Amino acid sequence: MTHTTGKLSVKRRYRYLLEAVRQTRPRRILEIGTWKGKHARLMIEEALKHKEVEYYGFDLFEQCSLEEFPKSKWTSVPFEKIKSALEKTGAKIFLFKGNTRETLAQARLPLMDFIFIDGGHSLETVQSDWEHCEKLMHSKTVLVFDDYWDRTDGGCKTLVDRVIRVSGKYKVNMLGEVDHADVSDIQMVKVTQKDAP
Ligand SMILES: C[S@@+](CC[C@H](N)C(=O)[O-])C[C@H]1O[C@@H](n2cnc3c(N)ncnc32)[C@H](O)[C@@H]1O
Repeated sequence: MTHTTGKLSVKRRYRYLLEAVRQTRPRRILEIGTWKGKHARLMIEEALKHKEVEYYGFDLFEQCSLEEFPKSKWTSVPFEKIKSALEKTGAKIFLFKGNTRETLAQARLPLMDFIFIDGGHSLETVQSDWEHCEKLMHSKTVLVFDDYWDRTDGGCKTLVDRVIRVSGKYKVNMLGEVDHADVSDIQMVKVTQKDAP
C-alpha cells in the first residue's frame, strides 16, 4: 500500500520509518543506500522540523552488482545531482561513494542519532554494515534495518535473529506490519540499546 507525503507516494513501511525519525528527532542521520535520495529527503525534512540536520549518505552511486541485489533495479544516479538536490533541504550533506565494506571503515564519522541500513543485501555486506554502524551508536541511537524478510540467503533477518537479538544488548522491534505491497513480505526492524533511558 502507498500513501502520499507532499507530492511523493510512500510505501507503508517507509511511513513507519518516517514516524521513527519523528520520534527520535535526530540531528545526525546516517543512511546506507542513499540511492536516488527520495527517502533521504523525507527523513531530513522530518528531522529539520526540530533542529539542524547533518545527513551522511553512503552508496556505490553506480550500478550495483547482482550479488547485492539478485534482481537489481538499482540504476545509478549521478552523485553530484543527488548531493545538490539534498542540499536544497537546508541540511548539511555528506555523501560517500563506494562499497561500504571499505568506505565505512575509511570515513571519520561522529556518533549518529539515527541510522538506516538499506545498502547491499548480501549477508556479508549487511554484517559488515552493522559492525561499522554499531560503533556509531550512542545510548539513544535508533538504528533501522530495511528488508527483514523470511529468507536466509540475504537481507538482515539472519543477522538480526542470530546475532543482534541474542547479544542481550539490544531491543529489537518490528516497525509496523507486513507490507503486502511488495512482492515478498518485507518489514523494517528497529534496534535500540536495552539500557536506553
Ligand atoms: C534499496 S536501495 C536504497 C534505497 C534507499 N535507501 C531508499 O529508501 O530510497 C540500495 C542501495 O544500496 C546501494 N548499494 C548496494 N550495495 C552496496 C555496497 N556494497 N556499498 C554501498 N552501497 C551499496 C545500491 O547502489 C542502492 O542504491
